[in-house]
Amino acid sequence: MFEIAPSILSADFTRLAEAIEAVKNGGAKVLHVDVMDGHFVPNITIGLPVVKSIRKATDLIIDTHLMISEPGRYAVEFVKAGADMVSVHVEADQHLQRTLTAIQEAGAKAGVAINPATPIESLTEALPYADFVLLMSVNPGFGGQKFIPTMLDKLRRLRQMILDRGLPVQIEIDGGIDGGNIAEIVRAGAQFVVAGNAVFGGGDAAAAVKGLIEKGTEWA
Ligand code: DX5
Ligand code: ZN
Repeated sequence: MFEIAPSILSADFTRLAEAIEAVKNGGAKVLHVDVMDGHFVPNITIGLPVVKSIRKATDLIIDTHLMISEPGRYAVEFVKAGADMVSVHVEADQHLQRTLTAIQEAGAKAGVAINPATPIESLTEALPYADFVLLMSVNPGFGGQKFIPTMLDKLRRLRQMILDRGLPVQIEIDGGIDGGNIAEIVRAGAQFVVAGNAVFGGGDAAAAVKGLIEKGTEWA
């Protein structure tokens, strides 16, 4: 009913292969890769070469979250590098419909990401061209931030908006999710749940993923 997408942003980058193996052993099927450019967000992380290496190392679904300006310039390159899901921010792209369509034509699922203060109405026109919405529940840029509580209501409204229009769009939520709030988030309608700090912040990433999956299924 939902998938955990561990964010490698909080992993040890010198031991990525072990981190990927651990989350897979814990039951994750999706790997969330945070790409930041130091322009759209105040941080710089990783890019295409790392995605290419990860592709060779795992059969997990690679979910690249592009927190970059003008994502239309690079989105298809990430699909070619091996990404299965690519999301671009509604705030960053002047030609969102074109970018989403290009991602799909290149063979990946296209997502539109939305910052906490951006209204869901800004997705109205793009929604039919997206496979999923990535709802940010923190302001993007850093791992380990606190979940913004009003994002739970935003998640419910987004799900309702998608249902009302009868669109096959899935919802991914990203930022500040842990064992304390995951059940409520899954109940509110998220199909993909990103977790960075909650997975890699402690010692045992496999056990952490397993624990989050168990907590997230408590609602059923
Ligand atoms: C934030 C990133 C998130 C982040 C999530 O800018 O988009 O994916 O890594 O990490 P946590 O779960 O620690 O908030
Ligand atoms: Zn992310």
